This record gives sequence, C-alpha cells and structure tokens, in this order.
Amino acid sequence: MAEQKALRGQILYFVDDPATSGESAWRYHTDGVLWLEDGRIRLADDAGKVLPQLPAGLDVEVFKHHLLIPGFIDTHVHYPQTEMVAAYGERLLEWLETYTFPVESKFADEAYGREIAARFLDELLRNGTTTALVFGSVHPQSVDAFFTEAQQRRLRMIAGKVMMDRNAPDYLCDTAESSYRDSKMLIERWHGVDRLQYAVTPRFAPTSSDAQLNYAGQLLKEYPGVYLHTHLAENPEECDWVNALFPDSEHYLDAYDQAGLLSRRSVFAHGIHLCDDSCERLGTSGSAIAHCPSSNLFLGSGLFELDRMTEHGVHVGIGTDIGGGTSFSMLQTLADAYKVQALRGQKLDPFRALYLATLGGARALDLEDRIGSFRPGCEADLVALDLHATPFLQFRTQQCQNLFEVLFVLNTLGDDRVIDRTWVMGDVAYRRDA
Ligand code: GUN
Ligand code: ZN
Repeated sequence: MAEQKALRGQILYFVDDPATSGESAWRYHTDGVLWLEDGRIRLADDAGKVLPQLPAGLDVEVFKHHLLIPGFIDTHVHYPQTEMVAAYGERLLEWLETYTFPVESKFADEAYGREIAARFLDELLRNGTTTALVFGSVHPQSVDAFFTEAQQRRLRMIAGKVMMDRNAPDYLCDTAESSYRDSKMLIERWHGVDRLQYAVTPRFAPTSSDAQLNYAGQLLKEYPGVYLHTHLAENPEECDWVNALFPDSEHYLDAYDQAGLLSRRSVFAHGIHLCDDSCERLGTSGSAIAHCPSSNLFLGSGLFELDRMTEHGVHVGIGTDIGGGTSFSMLQTLADAYKVQALRGQKLDPFRALYLATLGGARALDLEDRIGSFRPGCEADLVALDLHATPFLQFRTQQCQNLFEVLFVLNTLGDDRVIDRTWVMGDVAYRRDA
C-alpha cells in the first residue's frame, strides 16, 4: 500500500523564473491541498479539485495561517565553519588565516566531524533548508562524517572534500595526487548513494596548484554527473592574488576553464568581480553562481550584480556561506539579498527572491526534476511558514493587501521562528513546537 498524506493550506511554488516568465512562473492556491504519496508530490492544486480525488478516510491536516512551499535550497555553505559564525573584524584573506584554517583543522577527528555535522543538519532543518551544496574540510573523513549524518536524515545533500595543496598552513594541505586519490575514493563510496551526491571541491584558485586543478578536471571527466564546487572572484585582494599566481590565465575564471572545470554541474560561490568574458563563459557552459549576500556584506566583499548574471543567462542560486555568512536562515539571507540590490539602486522582488531560494537553487544544481517545486513526481521536501509566528509578524501580515506584500514581509522579517514544520521525503523532520 502506498503511503499517502494530505496537507491543506495556502500553497505556493514555482515552475519557472519570474524574471523570464512573469506571473506564469508560479502557482498559488489560497485554499490548496498538497497530496503526497510515498515521499513524493502526487498533486498540488485547489482543495476543491484535490479533495474529491483523495482515498476515502485519508486524514487532511489543515494549516490555518501558513504558507506551504518547497524546502529551501542552500547552494553554498561550509559545515566545518558552523562553530565560527560571527568571527570579528577581518576581510576574506585575513579571515581565512585567523579563524577558518584553525577551526577546520579540528575535522581531522571524524567523531568531531559527526558531532558538528549533526548540529549543522539539524540547524538547516530548523531553518527550513532541505538541500545544500556543502564544503567539507581537507580531511576525507570530514565528508564521511557529513554524509553519514545526512544519510540518517534521508536528506538530499551534495558535498565534497576540500582540495588545497598550497598557500595554506601545512597541517591543512594535501597534495595534488593525494587530493585526487581521496576524492576518487569518496566519489566511489558516496556519489549516488541514496540522496547523496559528490562535489569535487578545490577551495579556490589561490590554494590549488595548476596540477591540482587539472586533477579536479580529470575527476569531472572520469565521473560524469559529479559536481564542481569552488569560490570565484569574491574579494578584490583575492582577485589580484589570482592574477599574480596564474600569469598564463586571461582572468580568474580562465584558470578554472583551462583545467576543464566549467560545466552544467559547476557551482561557483560569489562571482562578484567579473569581466564580461567571464559572465559569457559562465552562461554558455551552463555553470551556476551561488550568490551569498550575507557573507558578502559581513566580509565586505562587494555587491553582486544579479541583473548582469540574468542577462548573461547564468544560473543563480542563493547561499548562506556559513561561516562567512551570519545566518542559517534562507529568509534572512534573502533579506540581505534585497539590501545588496538596494545599494545598487535595483529591486529584488519577493517572487524572484523566493524562486531563487527554491526552484532557482534546484536549477543551479541541475536538480529541477527532483526538488524545489511541487510538480507531480517531485520529492516531498517542504516547509510550513507560519505567518503568525510572532505577534509583530501577525500584525504586519494583516496589513498586507496581496500575496506580493505578504511574501516581501516574510522575506524581510522572517527567520527560523517562521519555520513551523519541515518535511523530508514526506515525513516530518522538524517541528517547531515539539
Ligand atoms: N574562499 C576560499 N575559502 C573560503 C571560505 O572558506 N569562505 C569564503 N567565504 N570564501 C572563501
Ligand atoms: Zn564559501
């Protein structure tokens, strides 16, 4: 017997990008029913259409002042940096030396990795995030620890071991050869197991030799379907450093391109300081940028040009970039995304924002047939956002005249308190009031 569930309430999901399709990009049901079967979406539609089709006797759980949406997708985050969120006073390169590298050294201990991975994943669920693209540390056992915890929670997660063979403390460096061997071993062990997938993860160009980047490219060739995950053009000093380290490259992205690292499954975090040629190559290769507004503001890195990426047809997802970013909440991250565009004299409307955090993230990860939407057959990872989560939110949403205003209030004021419930593959994985 198939396992069935039905949830009734306001339902919102995207089927396309509002930037290209306008109002036809989303489906909104003021009184909708979400019918789940064996952990997948069977149907999402008006209650009047779904209720008569439900099996006799099936309980319908009602959500009175909630919005049911697909689970959030965090397209760039570092699980080993969970314990160093809110580290004071440095920009990227000094921040890495002062805070990040010492913390990441602790992940040589697999038991410690398990402990932090468990805390990290529980925090994602508490914030309504059901899929993430995740950096481990340089230690292969950090990825074993992470995937073991993700597998226990039946989560769709993508992760990889950092490759880093220069310009970092000795205690954190691998070699080009060992990084290739260890990554290969992890791909064979984890890629495609349950809902887990592997990302080849050179930290960023300054900490990889040419030889190591080439090994990363070789892994992508040997294992089609595996991801590439790295950082790109986040900070001006970093960009100057890359220009000095790679004299034979035309620009930062070209160093990756020469190693064969651009593909439909390549995700570059940040991408703030880019030339036109870089934007063009990102677009034509089908690569994605993970926009990390909270991190970009906190580390003073710069203002992401969302409109320019859209014009070049580049896939864009949203990343918290914990611990450069300061919140696990994708809603808080969207609030920062709005402010970044405001500083550029641009507007990020709440439909596009919510698209970027759900279906847009799924597209950035080449997973739009599985997650990020409520189309029939999608995996039933979802959240119930409580519009009455706080007295003020209840008061403020009551003033709203339409869905646009409600969504903008949610994406500006919302945080973990708004997440009433999170489901993974149709089962409740987090309950706020438990
Ligand atoms: N660039 C290289 N490593 C990192 C990191 O850990 N965080 C961020 N934000 N940027 C990086
Ligand atoms: Zn990062």
